[in-house]
Amino acid sequence: MLKGSTEQSLNNIKDIRFGTWSKPSFKSYVEKSINGATIMNTSQDEPLVLRGKILTFINNKLDYKYWEKGAILIEKGIITEVGNHSDIDAPQNSKVIDYGEDLIVPGFIDGHVHYPQMGVIGSYGKKLIDWLNYYTYPEEVKFSSYAYAQSVAKLFLSETLKNGYTTSATFCTVHPESVDAFFYEAQKIKMRVIAGKVLMDRHAPDTLLDTAQKSFDDSQKLINRWHDNGRGLYAVTPRFAPTSTPGQLEVAGALFSNNNNVYLQSHVSEQLDEVDWVADLFPESSSYLDVYNRFSLLGKRALYGHGIYFSESDIEIASATDTTIIHCPTSNLFLGSGLFEYEKLRDAGIRLGLGTDIGGGTSLSPFATMKAAYEIAQLNNYSLSPLENFYRVTFGGANALHLDNKIGQIKSGFEADLTIIDLSSTDIIKNRMREVKNLPEMLFIQIMLADDRAIRSTFVNGKLVYEK
Ligand code: GUN
Ligand code: ZN
Repeated sequence: MLKGSTEQSLNNIKDIRFGTWSKPSFKSYVEKSINGATIMNTSQDEPLVLRGKILTFINNKLDYKYWEKGAILIEKGIITEVGNHSDIDAPQNSKVIDYGEDLIVPGFIDGHVHYPQMGVIGSYGKKLIDWLNYYTYPEEVKFSSYAYAQSVAKLFLSETLKNGYTTSATFCTVHPESVDAFFYEAQKIKMRVIAGKVLMDRHAPDTLLDTAQKSFDDSQKLINRWHDNGRGLYAVTPRFAPTSTPGQLEVAGALFSNNNNVYLQSHVSEQLDEVDWVADLFPESSSYLDVYNRFSLLGKRALYGHGIYFSESDIEIASATDTTIIHCPTSNLFLGSGLFEYEKLRDAGIRLGLGTDIGGGTSLSPFATMKAAYEIAQLNNYSLSPLENFYRVTFGGANALHLDNKIGQIKSGFEADLTIIDLSSTDIIKNRMREVKNLPEMLFIQIMLADDRAIRSTFVNGKLVYEK
């Protein structure tokens, strides 16, 4: 259930039942407690206290804080206190939701996704270029209709929240309507999102093509309308080098450098025949990544999906320019793209995030995404630790998007985007959790076995927007 929209405030949420209720030892306002369940009637503007186990990373070295009986005070959408529940000094009129044995983490961050591809998830039998031509482009054509784009944006956002993601960096389509619809729907629930109009002026169906000039005009208008508007941020979005002429890549470079703090998102080095195609199209460039470098499309806030086939010099360039790479593991397996060299890129100091990459990716679950990242690392003889995996979809994801001063941590002053995980959401997990010895093991069980049934609820900007 998506509770977004302004007309559905927290006032309208009547019966919320959560785990075992235990009496808080600090002053709080609990409306009712019936049969051991806390039943809250929370309202929009009063301070809110969430109680439960709490986990947050506190730096990029994987140091974390964990409270077994913790509490978070939220005021006006911002976290103002976090600690042991007995230490929180909550105002008298605070509402309290007690999540008992559930784990509260920062809302998950999806660093690379295509909201318009909800309708092609799980399309059989093709590799990247054929998959785009057979399934993806025909679906994206439909987004010239605002109404269609809006219906898919709503579905995407509700599924995203249901899976515990609170921030997504998403591609739209070539149509400005697809961008307006997405930002409009995200803004209704005050969700922090990054999105942008795809730029494509060749090698795609005519109905999906713009021109260098039109892509400049449309993108600039959309930047003016949506960038830094509420919690929305704009990304200049050339799809990938093969679908833009050099002239359009120049336009993308100009938009990226002329607009303060906008993002740039694209794809790089995902499949071998794609890499060969780029070499044919841009013979003067020394590599796929070098194409983007020549058009001034690398740097801070430049986000590239994949980066599987990087040479040593590509790795050096990505690191030296502080370009972000988003690893999209379920997509890499589904499309047969290859094995991302996580350890190598991380050790080169490249900012790394994790992305679902729907619809090349097969799941909007952070657990499925972390599981696939673990499995790909295994095939590269590297054990990706559960702590590092959770870091990548929280603090590390925020760092990859240059938003780590706002989201990705449970800390005073941070935006209150939070996800509550039921650690025993299925019989198999419950059984497995009986033997759990420590936090990493507990997280690993969730990574390997959990899905959207584990997401008890999701808060965006301090508001309950999803509950199971
Ligand atoms: N490369 C260019 N476009 C796409 C896309 O939509 N999905 C993926 N996975 N790769 C791409
Ligand atoms: Zn993608």
